[in-house]
Amino acid sequence: MARPALLQRRVSLLSLSLLCLVPLVQSNGNGLAQTPPMGWMAWERFRCDTDCKDDLENCISEKLFMDMADRLSEDGWRELGYEYVIIDDCWMSRIRDKNGTLQPDPDRFPSGIKRLADYVHNRGLKLGIYADMGRWTCMGFPGTTLDKIELDAQTFASWGVDYLKFDGCNSNALEQLLGYPLMSKALNATGRPMVYSCSWPVYIGSLPPEVNYTLLGDICHLWRNYYDIQDSWDSVQFIMDWFFNNQDYIQPAAGPGKWNDPDMLIIGNFGLSLEQSRTQMALWSIMASPLIMSNDLRSLDNAARAILQNKAAISINQDPLGIQGRRLFKEKTKIEVYWRPLVDAASALVFLSRRSDMPYHYHTSLEKLGFGKGNYEVYDVFEGSKPKPLNSTEQFTVSINPSGVVMWYLKPVKTESGAPFMA
Ligand code: GLA
Repeated sequence: MARPALLQRRVSLLSLSLLCLVPLVQSNGNGLAQTPPMGWMAWERFRCDTDCKDDLENCISEKLFMDMADRLSEDGWRELGYEYVIIDDCWMSRIRDKNGTLQPDPDRFPSGIKRLADYVHNRGLKLGIYADMGRWTCMGFPGTTLDKIELDAQTFASWGVDYLKFDGCNSNALEQLLGYPLMSKALNATGRPMVYSCSWPVYIGSLPPEVNYTLLGDICHLWRNYYDIQDSWDSVQFIMDWFFNNQDYIQPAAGPGKWNDPDMLIIGNFGLSLEQSRTQMALWSIMASPLIMSNDLRSLDNAARAILQNKAAISINQDPLGIQGRRLFKEKTKIEVYWRPLVDAASALVFLSRRSDMPYHYHTSLEKLGFGKGNYEVYDVFEGSKPKPLNSTEQFTVSINPSGVVMWYLKPVKTESGAPFMA
């Protein structure tokens, strides 16, 4: 175990000196992703299912993305902001064409990516695609080595792609250090605005000093900090714990045009209860995370749909200030409190129960939570109640279900000391 750490330190020293040689390129200066991107991505739900013979409905093919584009545009998602349809791994042919250009698998994407992009654009949506900084993608399809970066960026632009997820399997730290900024530059050079999602941090240890979050914010619109989400409550907790345990490092890195990405929303799949689904939606909104669903929009049940289409949660997530929220407290009782400041001195509060017994009655006051003195209006995000008045000194009780949340949107009616403090 000592060796990789040592190696990583050496590489990062090397990285620091090499960084001086990399021309600084600003990709997120292009005005995209001013709020966290929203949309749908194939990976968590559909993985690398290439068996279109036996599983036509679910295999990675142009039909899957056309189906999802239909659903996003016809079932009210697009109007709520869910606009990107994102292809993940396994779309490619196993070989580049004779000019070295990436090409889609001819059987599964017979119309080609440009036609698919047209289909998506005609529905008022945008198309995302996946590539990998390395010799092969994580699933073994052709990768983008350093010499192919410009060509691949141009290919994506010529197809009308609007978003690139750039993974980092099968490359070393030095190649990544050179490749991620180079791809940013190459995307800019195409002249086509494309959101640039970097998986870089997860491959180099997720935290400073290995990860330079300032540089990431300059070149990427969003970045995958940590491990892949899986379809389980354990996985959701594992990810959110990492993000909030490390909030001092990562929370300041986020803002308009630059977002931490704790990975896809898995609401509507098999692993989460109703309470847990609300918890994922609530905390992803507190974290100003991209809201990229990976589920089957063709067969989503109404409960999952209601959570994912909750207008209050979405507007908290998409708040124009773009300040990522933080965990305020972890109580011995296994209740946790999260907070995010919003525009107009409003804010969002989440009370989460990690208990597994019964609904827990948590007693507190806004003053105890650090809010300024005064009167507030409180709106319960998932109950959809009418706003209720609450004075900062008033004791109140919230009943929080096991592995569930109570989420509030609060606005000061009149405060003596202004906005709530930043913890
Ligand atoms: C990595 C990424 C995932 C997904 C797969 C595809 O594991 O982190 O999000 O893109 O590769 O192979």
